[in-house]
Amino acid sequence: MVARARGETVIQCLSLFLVIHFLVASANFFKPFNVTYDHRALIIDGHRRMLISGGIHYPRATPEMWPDLISKSKEGGVDVIQTYVFWNGHEPIRGQYFFEGRYDIVKFVKLVGANGLYLHLRIGPYVCAEWNFGGFPVWLRDIPGIVFRTDNAPFKEEMQRFVKRIVDLMREEMLFSWQGGPIIMLQIENEYGDIEHSFGPGGKEYVKWAARMALGLRAGVPWVMCRQTDAPENIIDACNAYYCDGFKPNSQKKPMLWTEDWDGWFATWGGSLPHRPVEDLAFAVARFFERGGSFQNYYMYFGGTNFGRTAGGPFYITSYDYDAPIDEYGLLSEPKWGHLKDLHATIKLCEPALVAADSPQYIKLGSKQEAHVYRIDSHTDGLNSTWHESQSGCSAFLANIDECKAATLRFLGQSYTLPPWSVSILPDCRNAVFNTAKVTAQTSIKSVELDLSYLSNVSSLQQFMAQNEGSNMQTSWVTIKEPISVWSENNFTVEGILEHLNVTKDQSDYLWYFTRIYVSDEDIAFWEENKVRPAVTIDSIRDVFRVFINGQLAGSVIGRWDKVMQPVQFQKGYNDLVLLSQTVGLQNYGAFLEREGAGFKGQTKLTGFKDGDIDLSNLLWTYQVGLQGEYLKIYGQGNNEMVEWTDLTHDDIPSTFTWYKTYFDAPAGADPVALDLGSMGKGQAWVNGHHIGRYWTLVAPEDGCQRNCDYRGAYSSGKCTTNCGKPTQTWYHIPRSWLQESHNLLVIFEETGGNPLDISVKLRSAHVICAHVSENHYPPLQKWVRSDFIDGKISVKDMTPEMQLQCQDGHIISSIEFASYGTPQGSCQKFSRGNCHALNSLSVVAKACQGTNKCNVAISNAVFGGDPCRGIVKTLAVEARCVSSTKVGFSQY
Ligand SMILES: *[C@@H]1O[C@H](CO)[C@@H](O)[C@H](O)[C@H]1NC(C)=O
Ligand SMILES: *[C@@H]1O[C@H](CO)[C@@H](O)[C@H](O)[C@H]1NC(C)=O
Ligand SMILES: *[C@@H]1O[C@H](CO)[C@@H](O)[C@H](O)[C@H]1NC(C)=O
Ligand SMILES: *[C@@H]1O[C@H](CO)[C@@H](O)[C@H](O)[C@H]1NC(C)=O
Repeated sequence: MVARARGETVIQCLSLFLVIHFLVASANFFKPFNVTYDHRALIIDGHRRMLISGGIHYPRATPEMWPDLISKSKEGGVDVIQTYVFWNGHEPIRGQYFFEGRYDIVKFVKLVGANGLYLHLRIGPYVCAEWNFGGFPVWLRDIPGIVFRTDNAPFKEEMQRFVKRIVDLMREEMLFSWQGGPIIMLQIENEYGDIEHSFGPGGKEYVKWAARMALGLRAGVPWVMCRQTDAPENIIDACNAYYCDGFKPNSQKKPMLWTEDWDGWFATWGGSLPHRPVEDLAFAVARFFERGGSFQNYYMYFGGTNFGRTAGGPFYITSYDYDAPIDEYGLLSEPKWGHLKDLHATIKLCEPALVAADSPQYIKLGSKQEAHVYRIDSHTDGLNSTWHESQSGCSAFLANIDECKAATLRFLGQSYTLPPWSVSILPDCRNAVFNTAKVTAQTSIKSVELDLSYLSNVSSLQQFMAQNEGSNMQTSWVTIKEPISVWSENNFTVEGILEHLNVTKDQSDYLWYFTRIYVSDEDIAFWEENKVRPAVTIDSIRDVFRVFINGQLAGSVIGRWDKVMQPVQFQKGYNDLVLLSQTVGLQNYGAFLEREGAGFKGQTKLTGFKDGDIDLSNLLWTYQVGLQGEYLKIYGQGNNEMVEWTDLTHDDIPSTFTWYKTYFDAPAGADPVALDLGSMGKGQAWVNGHHIGRYWTLVAPEDGCQRNCDYRGAYSSGKCTTNCGKPTQTWYHIPRSWLQESHNLLVIFEETGGNPLDISVKLRSAHVICAHVSENHYPPLQKWVRSDFIDGKISVKDMTPEMQLQCQDGHIISSIEFASYGTPQGSCQKFSRGNCHALNSLSVVAKACQGTNKCNVAISNAVFGGDPCRGIVKTLAVEARCVSSTKVGFSQY
């Protein structure tokens, strides 16, 4: 027995050894390398590098989406993936860690490594990120004596424990560069400099402590702090902003890093949708590398979705699209993705000169024009110089920062014309191969369309309802009312108004307060005589507050710590008074988040009574956290059968505080799936038990949007917004991996009375793609090899620009809607012919493109059978339609 047991142990140890060995081997993505830095750049394996980084937050996508997102990033010219670490996702209950599903950070980091990309891990653990409570677990605020983000022992202890846990995990999994993993850089804290002053001397001490603590973990790669001008000596302070070309680190030993280049912005319920034009974004990036920058991260490269209740506040919407180069659904946002890809390829062509020079040579070319020149022979520091031996030369950036006018510049004996607010990049100091304002990349117009295969099965849900009311549970809706007020034994009664988060611990958005109010004959007479009404009056509320009298909704208020005076109507005798406090994402920004709380603040009163105001905080209140449906998990497969649903009829609509349930078949094919909730009011939605997020059809103000977005001049988040007068969000991403082929459970909790019969499932794809390329544009970057032009052997003028069109994966060009070689005008979907037009434009483009996933057409007279108008600059404008070529089968992505 003993011998046998021992033998088993040996075998177990051996197999454990094999498993570990396999994991280690598979985690060895790179030959181990060290990362250090000097004043110019990060030094990777002994070489300074110019790095392009793309922000992707792993829980804002599904693990099934990660490989595609990472490979699209790589194809777009990204070298590094950057992510925050989301503490409240990883430690939902103190001491109980969670690293699975969307929170499988190890898997995410390994995928990045397996694609040959580096990773920048921003541990924080405060992350802001428009993420619930800035990433802090809500239990953190219950630790006695805690004050967040300052020199406070309980906070520092918790923070250190979590940061160490993450660093240890990465080390155990061999994910640091010196172990052959992809992690080249970390981050401690986050934009602390913005609020440090609020903490007095404690703030200064905390910064020093955080730095010491982080460095003490011996992770073996550099740490950054962003927006931290007093970052201690061995921590790099980095820039977060729309522009960082003027940024100077706080020491001459540190490189110029840009941790957050805001390529778009987030949106709030009831707000319009921000967009940052790619011409301006490319300008900002080019200016950064021009003026000595060496690491630039797009915040976000893919924004994704705030699934569940992960959106922060106040009022951040479920989509975190961010106007990023890869959209919320994982599709390319064009021309943003493509134009930046060209920019990245150009910067790579310049990299040998950029890393060789310690600093650029500055040449003033005009009042608002300048050049920065990097020369390889100016290389002076002690780096291994064989890296550059075969490549001698020079790279230059020419900038026209005039917001209005184009400029013609003379540089090293040649003449260059630059559009306003643009940078031209000359990898060999002679040939401009890229200009930030000349967009050659295609435009893609995405839409969601009712999936036809889905329609043929079900017709629309509404039509189906009309024809087959109640006959088929598969496609009709059932419903159940949520009780107003107390619904379980899980209630308690105390005197006074308790703070929202102190009661809910954020287990739900909803907190019910119930009491009874006695109304006398005298009160009623007083109200009638004086023509007044009593009112619930609260000094300050956030986010949504509702009052119910005797079971009826009396009023709703949306606030950001705003005063409430809600008139109400009482009957004689006892009245049920129910206050409902709702959160819509906890505050994620600012000092003292632990004190911010939610719900009500200040005095709570019933005003207008004969004998004066009634102080509500003197009354006995019964508290109930959450919804009965949430508690019973009636959105889950299995659990949803536990309650008595009834068939939904047209007469039941609209209804407040109501659950709805139906089943649907997944649309065929591989295109991303969207749920159209435009007919609904406010609530939450689940598919097969997965919480796809909060929804709300709050409408953006009518004005504030711009008809035409002018890329010129400094960007701010209000500059180029769309969607005015429309609900901020109506489509909600359902990841493919959450769907099965048929019988998908959809459960909706609706608060305000929307119409579920008009809900539909749609496919998102780029149906229309356009390109508008000029003879004056540059030839495609992928054709360039640095050595081709380094000695002036060839010139850009010998090469022809091209129009390139590509449908998304699984789609082909079905038709060319417009094509004109000559002087066409307008923009995508609004092109028109000019005076000059080659008659065979359409047939040439159709021949090259129709039926293909992608095509190229050279912008040259030869291709179009001769010059349609001598001496005039010609352009080619094309609009094409894409259709799915794989409308069969079912995909898991
Ligand atoms: C990285 O640096 C450490 C400490 O200087 C050194 O021991 C190690 O060999 C280096 N690793 C590589 C791969 O260069
Ligand atoms: C410089 O780098 C090259 C290529 O990485 C290497 O082969 C060479 O040995 C290095 N030389 C020195 C002096 O370190
Ligand atoms: C509230 O809790 C009390 C005490 O546990 C219980 O007696 C009462 O039935 C509960 N109310 C509801 C509506 O379940
Ligand atoms: C929340 O509860 C804590 C004790 O757990 C208390 O110190 C704090 O004052 C409460 N907050 C509010 C706003 O009532």
